[in-house]
Amino acid sequence: MELEINGRKQQVSAEPHHTLQQALRSGLGLTGAKHMCGHGACGSCTVILDGRPVLSCILLACMCEGKAIQTVEGIAADPAWKPLIDAYCKWDAMQCGYCTPGFLVTAKALLDRDPSPGLDECREALAGNICICGTYPRHAEAILEAAGKIAADAGTIAADGTIVAAGMIASGRGGQDG
Ligand code: FES
Ligand code: FES
Repeated sequence: MELEINGRKQQVSAEPHHTLQQALRSGLGLTGAKHMCGHGACGSCTVILDGRPVLSCILLACMCEGKAIQTVEGIAADPAWKPLIDAYCKWDAMQCGYCTPGFLVTAKALLDRDPSPGLDECREALAGNICICGTYPRHAEAILEAAGKIAADAGTIAADGTIVAAGMIASGRGGQDG
């Protein structure tokens, strides 16, 4: 089957009953989507499918044909998302690191749909990700810091400090309608 992964169409050898996680790990050597529970309960296998975080261990690979898949490998290789990786390191939001790819992918999906989340939004977005080491307190702080850095890099912080969509400051609209 053909899958579009991190912006590149790739031929993947997978059986109809194989999960997306199996196709990524065994078929393509993309081991960032970790296998922890294997039945949709921990979030460690999270990838982004057409803009939404999904659990690759309970999704058939064949159902993902024609859709855009992003994995942690693609996020880590994209300079635009370096602030997120840096913030996770700075806040030490990991211990053994096994759950970290799932958290990072979930965080990226959150920032895609809401570039300026609050603490509650961060915690809610990460509610499906489990960390056996108990690193929970630092994830939201890392995401908030990354959101600010990404907005600053993109020049999307308005004069009042709010983060607005790219291009709005340049157009003089400053986040207002019209
Ligand atoms: S390994 Fe997929 S949700 Fe746990
Ligand atoms: S850092 Fe070890 S499971 Fe989360």
